[in-house]
Amino acid sequence: SVYPSQDEASIQVAQRIAAIILDKQAKGEKAVLGLATGATPVKVYKELVRLHKEEGLSFNNVVTFNLDEYYPMLPNAEQSYVAFMKKQLFDHVDIPQENINIPDGTLAPEDVQAFCIAYEQKISNFGGLDIQILGIGRTGHIGFNEPGSAPNSGTRLVTLDDLTRRDASRDFGGKENVPTKAITMGVGTIFKAKEIVLMAWNEKKAEIVKKAVEGEISSDIPATYLQMSENVEFVLDTDAASGL
Ligand code: GLP
Repeated sequence: SVYPSQDEASIQVAQRIAAIILDKQAKGEKAVLGLATGATPVKVYKELVRLHKEEGLSFNNVVTFNLDEYYPMLPNAEQSYVAFMKKQLFDHVDIPQENINIPDGTLAPEDVQAFCIAYEQKISNFGGLDIQILGIGRTGHIGFNEPGSAPNSGTRLVTLDDLTRRDASRDFGGKENVPTKAITMGVGTIFKAKEIVLMAWNEKKAEIVKKAVEGEISSDIPATYLQMSENVEFVLDTDAASGL
């Protein structure tokens, strides 16, 4: 779907998430949300916080799994995705702390693989993700699944693309300070979600959105894999959709 503005689009996505939370609440079940970081979902989180504060939407039955985290990364570092999620959402809603899952940037290298397997297992134990929200990087990455990622890839340690690190350099005060690696859910992990929503805003995403939606499916642009799934919705503003 294409919306006139990022604000309107973000409100729609937030309402879809709220509907899942309420539906699960009514059934006495947990809502399992796959969450993303970056600038793209900020207004979705803002709307969810508003729904919590003004309309009493509770996150008591919500379990979350974030897509990715830089590696290495301390949770209290300003640039960590843990800090981002607290600031944008978790500090402002009533989600139980133990329901929050974010890949751990503090692991010793020898512990990463076991952590990744356990992360996948934990998602399955909760019955899978009810919805996964995604942004898209200019390399065509989803999560941190950079070009070369396999369609059946699982949660793992990856090396970040140079363009991705350049795009992140502002947050880190220079590309040389951006970690070279990250732990990310795999393309296969994302695909298991019952519903996937990829959001993109602004002119600067128009080129990669066009490739992701209309381009040949290829590991060169992992977002093209989304064309293979029927449970995917692209939510765009008019600028991001301008190349379609
Ligand atoms: C980041 C994240 C992705 C995100 C993408 C786009 O590096 N790991 O999950 O979708 O890059 O970022 P932004 O939303 O700031 O454009």
